[in-house]
Amino acid sequence: LFSGETDFLKGVVAMDGMPPDDRIEICFAGRSNVGKSTLINALTGRKALARASNTPGRTQEINFFTCADSHYVVDLPGYGFAKAPKDTVAKWQRLLKAYLSGRATLRRAFVLIDSRHGVKAVDEEIMSLLDRSAVTFQVVMTKADKVKEVERAKNLEQTREAVSKHPAAYPEIIVTSSEKGWGIDVLRAVISTLE
Ligand code: GTP
Ligand code: MG
Repeated sequence: LFSGETDFLKGVVAMDGMPPDDRIEICFAGRSNVGKSTLINALTGRKALARASNTPGRTQEINFFTCADSHYVVDLPGYGFAKAPKDTVAKWQRLLKAYLSGRATLRRAFVLIDSRHGVKAVDEEIMSLLDRSAVTFQVVMTKADKVKEVERAKNLEQTREAVSKHPAAYPEIIVTSSEKGWGIDVLRAVISTLE
């Protein structure tokens, strides 16, 4: 799936700007700065496909990427703290929630959790929204290279515990580092099995 062409299709700022729902669609959700855009770049092997940056709130639109003529890969704006004006943030948060609860062809949402922080209240909120919307989601731990083994294990356990309470959650958690390339193959394989 990821060995073929991946291209940026469009950035969407309102639900009526969504492309036709005629493909298998997966998306990456998570707190601002958790590493969504960087993970998409690691998955596709293209360093600057999705724009990443150290400033929380980098991605402000819903960005659609086409993958191998059959899939949409969707990069979402982050939730939680963002360095952007308040009303702008409020607008994209509404759009994010509308997308996560209203996109018919969304096969799976990948919810990214920082290996250094574990699950926070805002993550719980998003996971509950996905429960209510009956969207299957799977948790991906990011930035595993940034944390010591003991800490990583502790946060993974806390995350597993939190995730187990959500009916829409897929139980397997994938640990990744976009920086080191850890877990990227596993994630690619999971995405390839979705139909
Ligand atoms: P928003 O679009 O603002 O919501 O952020 P995002 O979730 O898309 O995060 P982004 O991919 O822009 O990454 C944020 C910062 O974390 C960047 O400086 C990345 O280089 C860094 N980063 C992302 N993934 C990793 C990783 O696996 N390891 C390390 N060390 N840094 C990472
Ligand atoms: Mg981003």
